[in-house]
Amino acid sequence: MAGVTWLKPVGIDENAQEAFSDFLGQLETRLADPATDRYRLVRDVLAEVMYGREYAQLLVDAPMAALNLDARNVTFEAEYYMATDEAKFGAVKPLLWLWKNLDLTPFGQNPVTGIPMRRILAGHIFRRVGRNFKCWQNVEFSVGYNMDVGDDVVIHRHVLLDDIGGIELHDGASVSDYVNIYSHTHSVLDGPDVTLRKTVIGRGARVTYHATILAGSVVSDDAMLATHALLRGDIPPHGIAMGIPAKVTRYKLRSEQEYGVDARTHPHGPGRKANPSFPEPTPNQTRKPTLEEMGEG
Ligand SMILES: CC(C)(COP(=O)(O)OP(=O)(O)OC[C@H]1O[C@@H](n2cnc3c(N)ncnc32)[C@H](O)[C@@H]1OP(=O)(O)O)[C@@H](O)C(=O)NCCC(=O)NCCS
Repeated sequence: MAGVTWLKPVGIDENAQEAFSDFLGQLETRLADPATDRYRLVRDVLAEVMYGREYAQLLVDAPMAALNLDARNVTFEAEYYMATDEAKFGAVKPLLWLWKNLDLTPFGQNPVTGIPMRRILAGHIFRRVGRNFKCWQNVEFSVGYNMDVGDDVVIHRHVLLDDIGGIELHDGASVSDYVNIYSHTHSVLDGPDVTLRKTVIGRGARVTYHATILAGSVVSDDAMLATHALLRGDIPPHGIAMGIPAKVTRYKLRSEQEYGVDARTHPHGPGRKANPSFPEPTPNQTRKPTLEEMGEG
């Protein structure tokens, strides 16, 4: 049934569509120009879309509103991480600020404008993004520049993509509402000892609503993580992992094929320290309770 979908096309008033397309086309052109000052562009767009006036005028009329539109006056959580590359983050920061703030407006909540706006921004934020990227509203990234995204990837609402250690989303992967995908982890005994591990979601894999994936997990091609599951490892091709912690309890009825991401053979590195002064790798820091501690002694 390839090519069959449960979605249907929806149109809006053609004059409104034309105005939106013009605006998005101009945004695309200005972003494509290496001479564009992204910080200025973003504060100008936000002043226009959110307050309907020029940034300089807004600064006079309502300085508290205006100053927060300029990403130079704003910090992100990722800027406090030692692992964040200042130059790379500086280049994408205003675009992440535009993305986040437009998500709070009718422009971002409207898929007709929100989805193409995010597609344009992703092309200038992510390490790579393929064709047809479709991202719904209220999605958060850590740094954005460590996102590696293939063709036809869909991300639904209220998703957290912690890409400080890198996230790969291969062709046709789908991330459902309220999913959290991490790529960093903290030592149990020493919180500041952070290890970065890339998290990989294979081709056509589905991470379903409210699931969480811990750093370094590999979800193979055509695998699935069930709703509300907590993945702290891998899922083989076609596997369906369920529960906390997630275990593969079912397989899709599919024949073997060529895999791009197969957790059984995928290289699993030791990860990288956010602060190299910590020992590598972090030694085991927990033990099981004794029978006595469990009240069975
Ligand atoms: C994993 C999932 C696909 C299973 O659906 P299904 O094949 O219809 O499975 P069933 O309801 O017949 O359940 C099969 C078994 O899995 C268990 N199970 C199903 N979903 C589970 C979940 N989220 N967590 C833990 N166990 C689950 C059932 O209890 C049952 O266990 P049993 O064999 O011991 O009786 C489904 O529960 C799910 O999580 N769907 C997410 C929604 C979705 O598709 N989102 C996609 C958006 S892109």
